[in-house]
Amino acid sequence: MFRTLYGKLASVLMTVFIAISAIMMLASQKMLEAQRLFELATELIIGTVVFSLIAALIVFRFLTIRLRVLSESIEAFRASGFTTPVPLALPGNLDDEIYRLSAAFQEMSERIAIQLSQLEQVDRQRRELLANVSHDLRTPLASMQGYLETMLIRADELTPEERNRYLQIAVKHCERLARLVKDVFELTKLEAHEVTPQIETFPVGELAQDVVQKFALKAQKRQLTLVTKCEPDCPPVRADIGMIEQVLENLIENAMRYTSAGGEIGVEVRPAGARVELRVRDTGQGIQGDELHNIFDRYYRVDRAEFGSTGNAGLGLAITRRIVELHGGDIQVESTPGLGTTFIVDLAVA
Ligand SMILES: Nc1ncnc2c1ncn2[C@@H]1O[C@H](COP(=O)(O)OP(=O)(O)O)[C@@H](O)[C@H]1O
Ligand SMILES: [Mg+2]
Repeated sequence: MFRTLYGKLASVLMTVFIAISAIMMLASQKMLEAQRLFELATELIIGTVVFSLIAALIVFRFLTIRLRVLSESIEAFRASGFTTPVPLALPGNLDDEIYRLSAAFQEMSERIAIQLSQLEQVDRQRRELLANVSHDLRTPLASMQGYLETMLIRADELTPEERNRYLQIAVKHCERLARLVKDVFELTKLEAHEVTPQIETFPVGELAQDVVQKFALKAQKRQLTLVTKCEPDCPPVRADIGMIEQVLENLIENAMRYTSAGGEIGVEVRPAGARVELRVRDTGQGIQGDELHNIFDRYYRVDRAEFGSTGNAGLGLAITRRIVELHGGDIQVESTPGLGTTFIVDLAVA
């Protein structure tokens, strides 16, 4: 009962009234004894008033001091732009309404601060994305425009071979643009949580073999050996087949790009406890230790100037990681500069 404010008030008032009655009883006894009726009555009234006033002030102070601390904290939180929740140090650790109100406010302000910082981060990422995208769109667009304009202006002087070459270059830039736009579109959708994987059960080993098959010709042209190794007792996985295909494509594409002629790229599928592990390893240039934790960031390329020559904007691994996370899986990378890199994806078995 004494835990609630009402209880406290009631107990204080009860004490006051008991005290007043005691004084009155004492006083009436004296009245009978001394017959100083008027004087005593005046003393009694003054005493009662003073006593009640002091008691009321104490109760009031006790209540307002904690309300003031609370309102100061709220004001400080507002002044910080709702970013820094102010820890409340209430005098007296009483479990009453004010205490509970303060605790609720504290929890609420912490949550507001977290959500606000998340919103700001998303907003910053959006702006960065937009800036990077417009920058990366400009390069291929400008080249394309250059070659097409040259063809228009010098239409009469160009030999058929030259015209053909110019057109091929323009088409190549067009393809880069298309790829960039596709990647940006995909990453944006993934980040906005707009895609839900269409989960089905399938043997991932077969998928790996199909994907590797698609790269066979390209690997041959670049004098790279492509090997697939699938453990026969590998259980099927539960995942979105199209998305996992994309993960494999991104990793194999990277492995091929960063491995020079004569190198080897291996795709392995094997069971690992309750998971299935997909490994894409290469014998390429590798990644420096201090770059390793950055490569999954969007737009991160170890060599940023590379975009001009390859048209890859550094979105591949960001998309890959998002897809793997969406499946409740995990992606790791191990690399030794000069020796090669291995990406390891793990997925849930069916
Ligand atoms: N197999 C690999 N070997 C060496 N470096 C790699 C490999 N895969 C990725 N990287 C590095 O990580 C960066 C990010 O990769 P990614 O997101 O796929 O972007 P992109 O392929 O567009 O450059 C690459 O620019 C490259 O520097
Ligand atoms: Mg890539």
